[in-house]
Amino acid sequence: MDKLVIRGGNALHGRLHVGGSKNTALALMAAAVLADGTTTLHNVPVLQDVFTFANVLRVTGCRVTYKPDANADTPDSMVIDAADLHHLEAPYDLVNKMRASFYMLGALLGRAGEARVSLPGGCAWGPRPVDLHLRGMEALGAEISMDQGYVVAKAPAGGLRGARIHFEPSSVGATINVMLAAATAKGTTVLENAAAEPDVVVFGQLLQAMGAHVDGLGTPTVTMEGVDALRPVTFTNCPDRIELGTYMIAAALATPPGERLVITGAEPAHLGDAFLDAFAATAVPFSLDGDTVEVEGAERIAPVSVATAPYPGFPTDLQAQWTVLMTQADGPSRVTDTIYTDRFKHIPELNRMGAECAVHEHTVEVRGRNGRPLQGAHVMSTDLRASVSLVLAGLVAAGETHVLRVYHLDRGYENLEGKLRRAGIDIWREEYQE
Ligand code: EPZ
Repeated sequence: MDKLVIRGGNALHGRLHVGGSKNTALALMAAAVLADGTTTLHNVPVLQDVFTFANVLRVTGCRVTYKPDANADTPDSMVIDAADLHHLEAPYDLVNKMRASFYMLGALLGRAGEARVSLPGGCAWGPRPVDLHLRGMEALGAEISMDQGYVVAKAPAGGLRGARIHFEPSSVGATINVMLAAATAKGTTVLENAAAEPDVVVFGQLLQAMGAHVDGLGTPTVTMEGVDALRPVTFTNCPDRIELGTYMIAAALATPPGERLVITGAEPAHLGDAFLDAFAATAVPFSLDGDTVEVEGAERIAPVSVATAPYPGFPTDLQAQWTVLMTQADGPSRVTDTIYTDRFKHIPELNRMGAECAVHEHTVEVRGRNGRPLQGAHVMSTDLRASVSLVLAGLVAAGETHVLRVYHLDRGYENLEGKLRRAGIDIWREEYQE
């Protein structure tokens, strides 16, 4: 088992490069299944979740070529040949590792009119149902049944047909999954209260490039006109907005006053106004210039309370990192998660490092330490964003912080310790026995 060890108190400066978006890459890989041929995706991040999804594709008969170089800053490309699709299943052992494998339901239904996909299991922070996905497929005319933990879906004779589908709440995954199936469904599909996250927009742009008729991307109403078939293309993935937000918070925590961290390869608009406004309100100076974000170290961090919401609201995938930032603010703040109301597994670990955080229902009340360092400790990762928040806490802790079970982190951050080390942080990976 691997852990990351951070010796705190070092200055973070120089440059950090943002890799391709994890969540968008997974949706793009699913879209490749819709075309009878070879799709090439550029800027695919080197992450465990990407490797897992590549195996999900291989199970169906797709040939996936991906030889990434994790240490290179140059984007990596993946080639997916979906011509020989013959096994219409996504097995439990892979779906259980990564929920986004459930996209195979829409992809296989859209391409082949049938699918057998394991229902995703539990998640570290509470129930994550897929009822909206299933209801969406049924609205398109698919017959849905359950068989030993698998969703079995079958299109009617004559194929799927367009429908009006309303999502409540707005769901990134359900929007993407239903769009995968609706792209080749006969007639018009209207998705109401659709997700407007950048991941969905970029995914929709790939479908358009493949010949799909999609309107309203980035708005709550997405309309699709079904087409007979989609064609394979070459497409470039967008940068990872959550990685960008994580690095901006790291700089606010660990870049000394008067020094700068330059973050390149970014798409700041994908962070959404709520995050950028909240960051500005901390009084930590930053500037945006094309694909570059510069953050300057500040004497003080103003306390800023946030509540997560669908895009362009404050991303739930940045609330744990924001909580760490607020432990260093010069006053109290509150962090509320309205999307995942129990996503607080990192709080007891932060409190073991001397933070003063208290969870009340869906809100964490944070007592700011006004820059007083936390204390290094052995802390346990429980999920992707919780684990990176513990790494951030290690940057501002006295002594060593040992972040255990970093396999969670490897799912979504490309070579994090290599990038941070190049930017001045004393961090290394070690094996340990549990
Ligand atoms: C995506 O998950 C992301 N994952 C998550 O990022 C992210 O936290 C989430 O969107 C919200 O932004 C990927 O893109 C692979 P949702 P997803 O469906 O699609 C409820 C990370 O750290 N809901 O938008 O699973 C659900 O319970 C990951 O990178 C239903 O009730 O999220 C939640 O409260 C973690 N029924 C809300 O909708 C459904 O059928 C939003 O979930 C589906 C969702």
